[in-house]
Amino acid sequence: MGIQEIQLHALNGEAFVEEQVRASGETVGGGLAVNALSGGVDSSVVTLLGHRALGDRLRTYFIENGLMREGEPQYIVDVFGGLGVDVEIVDAREQFFQALKGVTDPEEKRDKGITQVFYKDVFGKLVEDCGAKVLLQGTNYTDVEETVAGVKRQHNILAQLGIDTEQAYGYKVLEPIIQLRKPAVRAVGKALGLPEEIFSRPPFPGPALAARVIGEVTPERVALVRAATTIVEAELRDSGAFQYLAILHEDKVTGLRDGRRDFGHQIEVRCWDSTDAVTGTPIELPFDLLRRIADRITAEVPGVVSVTYNITAKPPSCIEAV
Ligand code: XMP
Repeated sequence: MGIQEIQLHALNGEAFVEEQVRASGETVGGGLAVNALSGGVDSSVVTLLGHRALGDRLRTYFIENGLMREGEPQYIVDVFGGLGVDVEIVDAREQFFQALKGVTDPEEKRDKGITQVFYKDVFGKLVEDCGAKVLLQGTNYTDVEETVAGVKRQHNILAQLGIDTEQAYGYKVLEPIIQLRKPAVRAVGKALGLPEEIFSRPPFPGPALAARVIGEVTPERVALVRAATTIVEAELRDSGAFQYLAILHEDKVTGLRDGRRDFGHQIEVRCWDSTDAVTGTPIELPFDLLRRIADRITAEVPGVVSVTYNITAKPPSCIEAV
């Protein structure tokens, strides 16, 4: 696919940082660049790399799309503020929910609901307003590979799908970590001096909680999966797993609450062992822990009457549900 992977064992973190700092500085020249920081490992690494290369010539935005985890925007602004990086929160909730209205097909959700709004409406305007010519983003090797192989369209893949961003959106896209898979991205984060709480975070998808809502993504349905996510993340933080998440199903099921029939929501919990998300196996969690998660979700998330645990490996499952 024309991009050469740099494997973890062949990576020299410091030398990689130096080379990317030089290359980014050269591409952006005296102009301005922008980037979106979601707080995931990839965008966090690219943000710090970009600031090392460009200083004030890089404007970093946190796009509040309404699909993030509880407390996430402020947490990320605070962490990066501590590293001397100013992050501006852009409230784009309405634009995203408007575009996601009535959309149930997974690929349409990613393309129309997330990609178009993100690159065209939100970033197109930011770039136009500040006069930047370059967008820095944290596309990694697995994102490219999965999109090219037709597994799923990762929201940040553009050039490999034949999209000319300068023509389509009016800016160039720079992808400093495109040759790296997750373990190598973490190593670069460490070399950059990113706090461990950030570079060792479990991966979180670009389409955020929209990747975990089956069926229509509405503010109400995102609120349900967000509340379940908070519980799953708290309970599984020490599990040592690669990634753990909650999914809201589209179908409702009959339950029983206070002696009465309650036709309610279903939440699915997944907890993955993996090294790079290309393949994965569900972790054999202690049953007591699973039961506690189910008890908490049904007690604390309104309208949920059923909690299931995924026992299927990737493949044929995927890490996320959408
Ligand atoms: P899947 O669901 O494809 O996930 O098995 C593989 C890894 O990629 C993350 N993921 C995404 N990341 N944009 C991203 O930036 C996306 O559209 C996307 N979809 C999945 C997922 O969380 C897992 O770590």
